[in-house]
Amino acid sequence: MEKKVTMDEISSFAKRRGFVYPSSELYQGLAGVYDYGPYGVELANNIKKLWWKAMVQEHDNIVGLDSSIFLNPQVWNASGHVDGFSDPLVECKECNVRSRADHLLEAIGITADEKMPVEEINKLLMQHADELACPSCKKSHFGNVRQFNLLVQSNLGNFSDEWQVAPTYLRPETAQGIYINMKNVLDTVRVRVPFGIAQIGKAFRNEINARQFIFRKREFEQMELQMFVHPDMALEVYEEWREKRFAFYQTIGIAQEHLKWHRHENLVFYAKEAHDIEYEFPFGFKELEGIHSRGDYDLQQHMKHSGVDLTYTDPKTGETYIPYVVETSVGLDRLFLAVLSEAYTQDEIDGKTRTVLKIHPALAPIKVAVFPLLKNKPELVTRAREVFDMLKHEYMCEFDDNGNIGKRYRRQDEIGTPFCVTVDFETLEDGTMTLRDRDTGKQERVAVEHLSEKLTW
Ligand code: GAP
Repeated sequence: MEKKVTMDEISSFAKRRGFVYPSSELYQGLAGVYDYGPYGVELANNIKKLWWKAMVQEHDNIVGLDSSIFLNPQVWNASGHVDGFSDPLVECKECNVRSRADHLLEAIGITADEKMPVEEINKLLMQHADELACPSCKKSHFGNVRQFNLLVQSNLGNFSDEWQVAPTYLRPETAQGIYINMKNVLDTVRVRVPFGIAQIGKAFRNEINARQFIFRKREFEQMELQMFVHPDMALEVYEEWREKRFAFYQTIGIAQEHLKWHRHENLVFYAKEAHDIEYEFPFGFKELEGIHSRGDYDLQQHMKHSGVDLTYTDPKTGETYIPYVVETSVGLDRLFLAVLSEAYTQDEIDGKTRTVLKIHPALAPIKVAVFPLLKNKPELVTRAREVFDMLKHEYMCEFDDNGNIGKRYRRQDEIGTPFCVTVDFETLEDGTMTLRDRDTGKQERVAVEHLSEKLTW
């Protein structure tokens, strides 16, 4: 049976190979915050590019937006986040470590979720008091559950000493920046309902537990689409996007058997219907993307709180209504983790075990690595440099003349480079070079003028 990669393996691999570093490591880190290293930022950018292509480029009724992280605090009152955006927190009475009550229950196999009423979670905690364990001291002595608001506060633009009185917030989702720009987009760009606005951007949440590497971060990135549709069309558009989003993952190399649907029973305050696409992470199936039918909740709220009319009048029928919203929302960091977990492979090549990242070539941080066979032969190094200089305009390339050729292949395998090109003595004679395939290790000789025909996916 195929051995599943563990979370420890993935996080140490990600650090060792320059994908993900814990933030502020010089200062013992900062919980729930991470930095993307040189290969990580390439992978993250490639994920964003493919998402943007699938959402914006390939739909003539979807446009992009980049709204600010800070919004008028009234937005978060209107959206319901100030009053209702919370998770159930419970404190260990022995060591004072705080945990998510629903996660403690899940750890002993009791189905619970963060949207359950506090009374219900408290009841479950009492019923199972003997089985529960604090993740830190392992004792089972907890206080009462309370709702903890996840908004991250700031003092932006507040110069009094009592800034807590009127805090601003770092956005906890990118969605609200879209809703409050719907009218701007309609007034300035030629789109009509049904249409969508897509956005990629940072979001911040004071997560109670941020212990699962980049799965649950306090600073993370979201890729969200908000479709504005006629109320009668909402269900159809919802189903259409459920299908499209599930299919998207297969186009980027995630196996269907590692994905499944989860329909929400307890709905978050804005949702009328909600499904998650779950991915089988190293610690089990967990939410990767949320697809929500939000009705007219958000636009109604913003109309009420801002006093601005956000109704839409159909230019053909003259009908006036508040559009319904269908949302798709995936965390970039979770998808990054899913892509790494899916691709991380240990196999055998030439009788030796190797670690190889069998990542979709479109996502690979480096597409082509160029090597001179020997580093102490200037004519090979010069020719290899010329090949690198030719390819670099088209592909993200790496030049490497360090160590023996086998080591250079292993290094590229580990970071998922689909193609390696080696310049050798034959190259100097007939212009052909060795092209090696990452997954099979097979090599073929290719003339320089035919290289780019081979570098396709
Ligand atoms: N606008 C809707 C919304 O924000 P959500 O289910 O709270 O819905 C959407 O978040 C997605 O954002 C999740 O499916 C997940 O991929 C990602 N996400 C949420 N919280 C996260 C966190 N703390 N760290 C990393 N990703 C997170």
